[in-house]
Amino acid sequence: QEQTFLAIKPDAVQRGLIGPIITRFERRGYKLRAIKLIVPDRSLLEKHYDEHKGKPFFEKLVGFMGSGPVCAMVWEGKDVVKTGRAMLGATNPLNSAPGTIRGDYGIDLGRNVCHGSDSVDSAKYEINLWFQPTEIQQYDRAIEGWIYE
Ligand code: GTP
Ligand code: MG
Repeated sequence: QEQTFLAIKPDAVQRGLIGPIITRFERRGYKLRAIKLIVPDRSLLEKHYDEHKGKPFFEKLVGFMGSGPVCAMVWEGKDVVKTGRAMLGATNPLNSAPGTIRGDYGIDLGRNVCHGSDSVDSAKYEINLWFQPTEIQQYDRAIEGWIYE
């Protein structure tokens, strides 16, 4: 099954939104494969946000993301990269629809609550960057047949 990397950003950890965000993914039927609280160091964040290096908001972004614990997760399920991004909502909360995580919980672009991989390739890159293979759990769920036909 496809996997994606999701991170609950420091703003949402501080605001007590870990539970509500995880609940949305659990309720939809996705499987949680890994989870940890981590304060990412600069080297990790520079690799994670490599595509944004040199942009005017890069320093602010890295400073914010390293300002406190992040809840890093690996979620698994059919098309979870795309559907996960849809559940997060648009990057700018001005455009994120009510019903999405950012649309329900965020106001500001620089405090936009959560991160989700934007492609299957970046998911592989990010999972490998944030997690050791031994931190990713492989397990069966008895309900699988009630989620997938
Ligand atoms: P992530 O899941 O965090 O990667 O968001 P994204 O993939 O929806 O957006 P993108 O990768 O383009 O940008 C990464 C993060 O940088 C965003 O989540 C914003 O917090 C921040 N960001 C992006 N564009 C801007 C910008 O123009 N100004 C500021 N201040 N921050 C920005
Ligand atoms: Mg991104």
